[in-house]
Amino acid sequence: MTDMLAQIRSLGDQLRWAADLDPPHVGTFSEILYAGMGGSGIAGDYAGAVAYPVGTRIAVHKGYGPIPPWAIRQRPLLIAASYSGNTEETLDMVTSAWESGLTVATVTTGGRLAELTTQHGWRTIAVPPGLQPRAAVGYMVGAVLRLLEGSHSVDDQRLAFTEAAKLADEMTAEDSPAWQQAEEIAEGLEGRIPIIYGAGPVTGVVAQRWKTQLNENAKIPAWYSVLPELDHNEITGWETMPGTTREHVGIVALTDPGDHDRVAIRIGHTRELTESAVPWVGVVPSSGTSTLARLVSLTAVGDLVSWMLAERLGVDPVPVATIEELKKLLADD
Ligand code: F6R
Repeated sequence: MTDMLAQIRSLGDQLRWAADLDPPHVGTFSEILYAGMGGSGIAGDYAGAVAYPVGTRIAVHKGYGPIPPWAIRQRPLLIAASYSGNTEETLDMVTSAWESGLTVATVTTGGRLAELTTQHGWRTIAVPPGLQPRAAVGYMVGAVLRLLEGSHSVDDQRLAFTEAAKLADEMTAEDSPAWQQAEEIAEGLEGRIPIIYGAGPVTGVVAQRWKTQLNENAKIPAWYSVLPELDHNEITGWETMPGTTREHVGIVALTDPGDHDRVAIRIGHTRELTESAVPWVGVVPSSGTSTLARLVSLTAVGDLVSWMLAERLGVDPVPVATIEELKKLLADD
């Protein structure tokens, strides 16, 4: 297992690996049901953001089966993604989908999911093992996108892979502008509970990625919220505990040209109205042209922030002992 910074920096190579794959032929689908948890689940959210403009709906299911009733009627392609291949919720969903007669495709490094794939002859992309699942996001997203190409539900993404991989390399290089921005944000967030704001299909999903990377790498509590919804509820939540929130909370807003014009205006006003109770740590704009590159650019900054915070706090970002312990407890039940 390499260290977390090396894993974060391998994002560009992971995307190049995916770009070189031959997409397996899976049939023709315009609707996808995606089963995956944690670091494997977020790959479905990213793929959903890429597929969104071309009209393919990816319903990401993070939990146990059975498959939802709409899927029995609509017959989507079921993509089951688990880096380890042993996540019980994903195995439960894939079993339910197969028993309901859905077409199944998988993305995994091995485990029980690989065994089931071989047994039933499902289409699959085997991703390289040896990373933390959350650090394999480039492999997972890349493999899922190639599967989607093989099911005619997204167009050829190879140019987007090239752009995104280059951006990932540049942004994760030490002392790049993104690195410096990440350092400033990590400094601002130290000692605070981060809340990450997103909005549209790109920033909404990367806000979730920031939150989970802060949880798993820096081992701190973190949450995410989405605009414009948070302006209808959460904005009032800063009113009565300003002494506590001023000291202990920091907000980072992610922005993207795909966000609705009114969202940028809302971010400004939301900040004006809440800044005295919750000091904002920053606004991070996406870069790049393709949807994939914009997702990757925001991911690179967030992954670096989570690693830098781990360094500042003196914790090892790689192991996720509590998650492993919980999985062991569940295996014995
Ligand atoms: C650990 C991580 C977790 C796992 C999750 C599901 O690095 O990211 O969120 O992704 O526990 O496991 P897999 O991905 O193996 O299905």
